[in-house]
Amino acid sequence: MGVKLTFIGHATWLIEGSKRVLIDPFITSNPQAQAAGITLDSLLDKVDLVVITHGHFDHIENAVDFGKKGIPLVGLFEVAQYLASQGAKNTVGANIGGWFEVEGVRLVFTPAVHSSSLIKDNGEPIYLGNPAGVIVELDGVRIYHTGDTALFGDMALIGELYKPDVMLLPIGSLFTMGITEAVKAVDLVKPKIAIPMHYNTWEPIKQDPEEFKKKVEESSCAEAQVIIVQPGETTEISA
Ligand code: NI
Ligand code: MN
Repeated sequence: MGVKLTFIGHATWLIEGSKRVLIDPFITSNPQAQAAGITLDSLLDKVDLVVITHGHFDHIENAVDFGKKGIPLVGLFEVAQYLASQGAKNTVGANIGGWFEVEGVRLVFTPAVHSSSLIKDNGEPIYLGNPAGVIVELDGVRIYHTGDTALFGDMALIGELYKPDVMLLPIGSLFTMGITEAVKAVDLVKPKIAIPMHYNTWEPIKQDPEEFKKKVEESSCAEAQVIIVQPGETTEISA
């Protein structure tokens, strides 16, 4: 057993196994997806479930496109309610807490230290609840997508309890952890594989993933292997 993990760019990932799970559908305006030649149309018929970590535009842009096709959208309650109001036919509103199952995929939402809102054209924010991370368990593989987050000490608890095989984590700084914090986050969670994301999408979050890789390898958590996945690339994860 195992899954294929494809980086769509920024914080958007496609996990393919017995089910196909898309996390944080940001495709149309995603410069990394565009550069990799990935279009929304190419993904619309390839997904069984969409999971959303929080309400920021660079995480939910295309959620309703999938939702209008009846593909289940899973997010925190406020995000799910909002997407339903925009025409998504099948939303599952959950919250940070414990395991639940949708379409045969097991999920847990975890805390994230960030914010969650959508900004209307007039500049007013629409409050969309708390931000989250998510653990997705599919075909014997556990993937922890941290969502956008700062470093926090309870990541150790997430690592201890859920023992993720793969940790997808931001290194871009400015909006999220930078490299220094991300190295410590890997140390706390102790995944088998750590994959950086949420960097180099735009100039303000420019980072060198090789520096992240080197620093993780030098840190006390030497057992975590860092894989740098380029937008459009797929990596196989065995269970
Ligand atoms: Ni965000
Ligand atoms: Mn973001």
